[in-house]
Amino acid sequence: YLNNDRSMELPPRPKLFDFHGVSMTKCFTDNWDNVQNVKARPDDILIATYPKAGTTWVSQILDLLYFGQTSPERQSSIPIHMRVPFLDLCRPSQPTGKDLVDQLPTSPRLIKSHLPVQFVPKSFWEQNCRIVYVARNAKDTAVSYFHFGRMNMFQPEPGEWSSFLQHFIQGEVVFGSWYDHVRGWWEKKQTHSKLHYMFYEDLIEDTGREIDRLCSFLGLSPSAEERERIRGAVQFDNMKKNKMTNYSTVPSMDLKVSSFIRKGKVGDWKNHFTVAQSEQFDEDYKKKMKNTTLQFRTEI
Ligand code: A3P
Repeated sequence: YLNNDRSMELPPRPKLFDFHGVSMTKCFTDNWDNVQNVKARPDDILIATYPKAGTTWVSQILDLLYFGQTSPERQSSIPIHMRVPFLDLCRPSQPTGKDLVDQLPTSPRLIKSHLPVQFVPKSFWEQNCRIVYVARNAKDTAVSYFHFGRMNMFQPEPGEWSSFLQHFIQGEVVFGSWYDHVRGWWEKKQTHSKLHYMFYEDLIEDTGREIDRLCSFLGLSPSAEERERIRGAVQFDNMKKNKMTNYSTVPSMDLKVSSFIRKGKVGDWKNHFTVAQSEQFDEDYKKKMKNTTLQFRTEI
């Protein structure tokens, strides 16, 4: 009966539609003008990603780097989506991401966005803000996005894996084409020097090294001890059991269907793609990703 109650409380799943050439849902277009008019501050840090690239992981790392020592109570009492608000998000009868950003008491403000680069509010460029972009290989992103769609009522119904995969390839998923997203941001790196482009696979390979790189980009120099403390705190198992990072406080997500912090692996795609799906994917991938220096690893 609990499940029935739950579905009665929640609105039907949103539908995808084309929005200036990108597939979106109402949750990300209803508040468009306000989002576009957000006033960035020069010390704001934007954490930009295509969904499922490791946004939450990097958000937690940055929150600990900036506030882990000055306000440790933050990490134990405020869920990550309130500490690092999702600018683009707007859902009925809840504060919008834009409002949460405006109300953030911290300095700097850490702000999450899934917007493709051409949709980033102009204030972030005018203020020359630091931006951390996280990218993850397409195959693992697709798998992670599929499971996310199953458990999150604010995502369109993903359907079967095989049909979801075709939609992913076509860019018919929320925030559009993965290929356009990662390439668009990669190209932006050429002109916006305050953009740190990082990879989920690198984080998995050596979290400490990636924390060091983040620190040099951000101009931070935590003690060796503090850096180790952060590295430990953001390990998969710790974030999975941490109620402030595992999204167990968000009613629209059904963790019984699939965890938000789910597997945390490079190469989980091998458990989902058939050989034929993988071949079709690779062939299409080569076409879409030719003429770019951007390289991903699908295994490490
Ligand atoms: P999987 O579904 O493959 O497990 P986002 O935060 O951008 O939505 O990304 C979610 C993905 O990042 C999920 O991938 C999740 O498990 C993974 N993730 C989150 N925290 C992690 C951590 N500390 N270590 C490794 N992966 C993590």
